[in-house]
Amino acid sequence: MGLNSHNSNIIVLGAQWGDEGKGKIVDLFCDRFDTVVRYQGGNNAGHTVYIGPQKYVLKLIPSGILRPGKLAVIGNGVVIDPAALMDEIDGLQKLGIDVTKQLAISNRAQVIFPFHRLVEKISEASKDRVAIGTTARGIGPAYEDKAGRRGMRIADLLEADAFPAIYEQLRKDKQRIAAAFGVEGIDEDALERTKLLAERLRPMVRDTATLLNEQIRAGKRVLLEGAQGTMLDIDHGTYPFVTSSSTTAGGACTGTGIPPTSIHGVIGVAKAYITRVGGGPFPSEALDEIGESIRKAGNEFGSVTGRPRRCGWFDAPLLRYTAMINGFDSLIVTKLDVLDHLATIPVCVAYEIDGKRVTEMPARQEQLLRVKPVYEDLPGWQTSTRGVKDFSELPDLAKRYLGFLEKQTGVETGCVSTGPERTETMVIAGSRLEKLIG
Ligand code: IMP
Repeated sequence: MGLNSHNSNIIVLGAQWGDEGKGKIVDLFCDRFDTVVRYQGGNNAGHTVYIGPQKYVLKLIPSGILRPGKLAVIGNGVVIDPAALMDEIDGLQKLGIDVTKQLAISNRAQVIFPFHRLVEKISEASKDRVAIGTTARGIGPAYEDKAGRRGMRIADLLEADAFPAIYEQLRKDKQRIAAAFGVEGIDEDALERTKLLAERLRPMVRDTATLLNEQIRAGKRVLLEGAQGTMLDIDHGTYPFVTSSSTTAGGACTGTGIPPTSIHGVIGVAKAYITRVGGGPFPSEALDEIGESIRKAGNEFGSVTGRPRRCGWFDAPLLRYTAMINGFDSLIVTKLDVLDHLATIPVCVAYEIDGKRVTEMPARQEQLLRVKPVYEDLPGWQTSTRGVKDFSELPDLAKRYLGFLEKQTGVETGCVSTGPERTETMVIAGSRLEKLIG
């Protein structure tokens, strides 16, 4: 891998179960890049970025849009709810951002219709099915239609002749499912409404794979922004309690059409502890009042659904696994300041099942539910790190904690974040990360 900052295109993605603070990090780095691309997921993601007193929650549009002159791209691996996307575009336009000039939407991205949300609701409420605790945005059903080769892509949505036929097939399919569960309410107007929305999106729709490859050939730098986190990946995550897309580094290539040979680095983002939203195994979950204190201190409530996030301790075996799957060059540790109040900070250093050490991430959720985390307790620093911008100014015990994570995960800590603002961040001098972002 070349580390020439002039040609380095990088992936920034979640190393845990999502909500690691990728939005802020991407926003911080994107002034060094020309283009920021989303490669999977949909409006199930919520990237919160604070700039001064202003809070932005971006769901589909990459945070590069907040920087004048940057190109923001929604890649082919994304599932798009046109109504949600238009809402986001309208909101940004109101803030004075010229979205139409800065945004490109893939003609190969899949469309989410209202009936996708309906069938998801049916599935999640059904006694015969496992409730995943989804974000209820129709993401899973839209990816099901994609894999079932009956989905509608943005290019089809814009093609008046092809549109009714594909749509009707999809609608009837969903009507059958709804009827089987005794649910009425497939929205008959959705077709007309979606057509109108599609017309508004039309000027931004492009062959983004071609656009991105042209940009790279022209020497522009591209940052690929993951949504959710590695443990929610459809293949490598805690299946079936996962999302329906490839959240890992591999997904960045399939979700954009950028070849692996054009990507020069992969950066993982992890909280100094860990959270997850929705159901599924969570070996290092802290179900006591300390977990509750982290939820409060870290404001751990979903940015899309508002649900309280489940909180727990940094899980090193999980991080070693996600580092292997993604090949992290560097790790960004966020929300260090949330741990400021703790006298002792446990870190999960190993998994045991039935008293035996586990050296591989268990594939079956039944095994994962039986995992007993082995903890090592580290002393807390009990002093504020909020807003610290220089590594040398961190308390010694905080440095020791970060050093411990580095040793346990085998990945350098290239950057630490100590607050929600862009500026409340430090890039470690001499790190691989520093070289990659140039
Ligand atoms: P879906 O993506 O809405 O299908 O939800 C599947 C699982 O992924 C659920 O456990 C969700 O809570 C989780 N999930 C989806 N998007 C996010 C996210 O952006 N952050 C954290 N969890 C997410």
